[in-house]
Amino acid sequence: MGSSDGRRLSVSVVDVFSDHEAEFLTLATHFEALILRKEYGRAEMIRDEAHPLRFYSVRYWIDATAAERCHRDQEVQALTAQLYHVARVTHVVNGVRRNDKMHLLLDDRRARIEADRRTGFDRRVDDTGPTNGERREKHERRLGPRRVRETGGEVDLVGAARRAREHADAAYSHFKVGAALEAVDGTVITGCNIENATYGLTICAERVAMFKALSEGHRVFTRIAIVADTEAPTPPCGACRQILWEFAGNLEILLANLTAETGSHYLKDLLPHPFDARLL
Ligand code: THU
Repeated sequence: MGSSDGRRLSVSVVDVFSDHEAEFLTLATHFEALILRKEYGRAEMIRDEAHPLRFYSVRYWIDATAAERCHRDQEVQALTAQLYHVARVTHVVNGVRRNDKMHLLLDDRRARIEADRRTGFDRRVDDTGPTNGERREKHERRLGPRRVRETGGEVDLVGAARRAREHADAAYSHFKVGAALEAVDGTVITGCNIENATYGLTICAERVAMFKALSEGHRVFTRIAIVADTEAPTPPCGACRQILWEFAGNLEILLANLTAETGSHYLKDLLPHPFDARLL
């Protein structure tokens, strides 16, 4: 690890299929030994404390070519094929990419948001702006792509949730909620509440965002912003807390109304003594 490339690393999230943990741990030990023996670098499997059967596979490469050689290595490929039988693997940091500077997730995220203004949650299909030629003021302003980052490169998650809220279909309660969920690669997935005539089939903004994210392949999340038009904070309902916990673990939760942030929490504090797969 002496070279300047020594900090190169790859990270994957590994969700082990139930009843396959022992098999997985054996494979992981073989993998670690193989990486060392072939002098590609070092590999380590970190268990997620909040998530049963979730691990983070971290590979510290000696240099970029070691990462590439490792990926081409037939012994490694055979082991990886076995791994795919016992776990779902999601790559979150790619150490192979050739670049002078190590790619940080944050940089990727900024690049993605600024490079293509018509992708993702920023896309505005219809021109629904005011027709009288007046500009929207303050919080009524739409959060277009240029305003996604408020300051210093931070993604404006609350802004995204405010925009998502405009799509809420709350014909019965008239209580509109927006949510914006941040995935570990920086993608923002939004949701709004959608009600229907049975009332009971209503779905909250948070679960819409989470199910959209899962259906698009996201598996690791960092934060969620939730926005409602109320003075008091609107924390997620019990059902949403459960779903967020099971799929995202100890998320950071930002609460806001249309003009101000109204609180921030960690999910573990909103859902003490949770029920999850560890208890099954
Ligand atoms: N709602 C959400 O979307 N998220 C919350 O955190 C609280 C409640 C929705 C469900 C329903 O459409 C309306 O708000 C009133 O309960």
